[in-house]
Amino acid sequence: MTEDALYEPTNNTHHQSASEPTSLAPQWLANEYEAGNDGQFQAAYQALASIGVWSDLPPGRAVDVGCGSGRLVEALARCGWQVDGNDVSESMVLAARKRCHGLPVALNVCDARQLNLTPRHYELVTTCWMIHWLEDVLPTLQQLTNAVAPGGHLVLQWSCGQPRAQGFALRDTLQEVFDRPAWRNRLKDAPLAMYHHPLDEVLQFVSHANFDIISTRENIVVGGGENPQSLRRALRSAAFAAQTVVLGDDVDLLIDECLQLLVERQALQVANTELIARLK
Ligand SMILES: C[S@@+](CC[C@H](N)C(=O)[O-])C[C@H]1O[C@@H](n2cnc3c(N)ncnc32)[C@H](O)[C@@H]1O
Repeated sequence: MTEDALYEPTNNTHHQSASEPTSLAPQWLANEYEAGNDGQFQAAYQALASIGVWSDLPPGRAVDVGCGSGRLVEALARCGWQVDGNDVSESMVLAARKRCHGLPVALNVCDARQLNLTPRHYELVTTCWMIHWLEDVLPTLQQLTNAVAPGGHLVLQWSCGQPRAQGFALRDTLQEVFDRPAWRNRLKDAPLAMYHHPLDEVLQFVSHANFDIISTRENIVVGGGENPQSLRRALRSAAFAAQTVVLGDDVDLLIDECLQLLVERQALQVANTELIARLK
């Protein structure tokens, strides 16, 4: 097999070419993400450790949806897994391909709203810190749960997983800043797209799909953002990815305004959430 063949599209996702528009919002930039983000990868790595992926679980086939720059894909492949990874951002997929050069992985541009995963194919299905960017998560959850092979694991991590009754002060506060005259026009091509998927609703969906719930965690502390500077850096690389594309370094001014109002309103609750389940 040539190295190029490692990157041939597999037949289990709807792949998009660079010229085919995937979403109206600007896409995440791998260099920004890599510069400010280690905590999310570490959290994902630990979740997989909790089910023995790095120790006693026999390697098989895995897919990482919203794989970003491919750190988890690489770790899995180096541990003996055959890994498919996809992400809506071409920049992220290119970075992941570079990182995983020579490893048994297939990485492709694919919008998680248009997945076409092979049913019951993967012993491990992961999606970390992505589904809160999807307005309607159900079609994606359907694809993810269907893709797990009997006895296989599903690992989901996402932000904004608070109970519905708690509302969504984080998004509402950010929206207030985005709507300020100084920002409204500049952000018209990068609107706030952050969605609330309560843990209990995701859990109910996964349970109904014939999974045993192994564990859930709420309000996980994800590394990064321990001081104002690193918080700004982490937000720039993760939460404000689209806005960074359109504003460049001015995004830091936007982030500062957002942080100020979030602190005033006591609305800086990210509600990082995790669910791990096993198909019966
Ligand atoms: C916070 S990063 C997480 C990356 C990686 N999973 C990790 O844990 O480091 C979110 C990723 O989701 C991707 N993403 C956002 N919307 C998406 C969509 N509709 N379909 C697929 N990927 C999407 C972004 O491009 C970005 O790479």
